[in-house]
Amino acid sequence: MSNQFDIKQYLIKDEPYYQAQGNELALYQAAYAARLPVMLKGPTGCGKSRFVEHMAWKLGKPLITVACNEDMTASDLVGRYLLDANGTRWLDGPLTLAARYGAICYLDEIVEARQDTTVVIHPLTDHRRTLPLDKKGELVTAHPDFQMVISYNPGYQSLLKDLKQSTKQRFTAFDFDYPPAKLEVTILSKEAGIDVELSSKLVKIGIAARNLKGHGLDEGISTRLLVYAATLIKRGVSPREACRMAMVRPITDDADIRDTLDHAIDAIFD
Ligand SMILES: Nc1ncnc2c1ncn2[C@@H]1O[C@H](COP(=O)(O)OP(=O)(O)OP(=O)(O)O)[C@@H](O)[C@H]1O
Ligand SMILES: [Mg+2]
Repeated sequence: MSNQFDIKQYLIKDEPYYQAQGNELALYQAAYAARLPVMLKGPTGCGKSRFVEHMAWKLGKPLITVACNEDMTASDLVGRYLLDANGTRWLDGPLTLAARYGAICYLDEIVEARQDTTVVIHPLTDHRRTLPLDKKGELVTAHPDFQMVISYNPGYQSLLKDLKQSTKQRFTAFDFDYPPAKLEVTILSKEAGIDVELSSKLVKIGIAARNLKGHGLDEGISTRLLVYAATLIKRGVSPREACRMAMVRPITDDADIRDTLDHAIDAIFD
């Protein structure tokens, strides 16, 4: 079974557009060259996943992404025996596939996973670069191309959900944040195909909303939502409606904050 597996299906064919904010491309390449594990920290929708996709494409390595959640077990990552007509057979989980065949394994929102799940990555993320499959009685030695990448959003987590130091200290890390206005304008224009003038207006609203973080908003408007608004406008939705739908309604139910944001939108698209 496993020798039929084709890791090439996880190669990214077309370049995922990624606008660099600093020297993160060179730093990531250095980390990959040494096969050091990488942690991406930052708020939702600021470009973490896009960055990993871009880097995997640039390096020409397959990318296996796993969205973590609290119901996830170690078996979901590592693999399990399945029953079929011929008896039982082992099925590698995504982490094992990445380690065995040499992919970049991206565990998205790692803190959502329980700690007993998280520790399975420990032997893969230190000098050992191995993965014990206890149930199968096999010790997988990671392929030379294998690398581990995890992401998390530092804002949301409770202390209880934080990663253990012994996990954190197996990683190098990048801080991500919403791009500076000029770059965000470029991103909106390229992603949605709208002109710079319109992008600038959307970014202005985004920045105004981010200033409300901690004053009634838990989180500012992400670059992702700005792209959504731009996409709706590109499809013929009026700017005011697009902004309300993509940038205000999703993020808050608080009537006062909605009013404030709606007014900011009306002022910019008068
Ligand atoms: N630097 C960037 N270059 C190009 N596109 C970007 C960039 N940053 C954000 N985007 C846009 O924002 C969207 C959301 O980015 P992405 O999915 O990478 O966010 P994320 O940080 O992984 O969020 P989450 O934590 O919610 O998974 C992308 O689909 C893309 O349109
Ligand atoms: Mg993501």
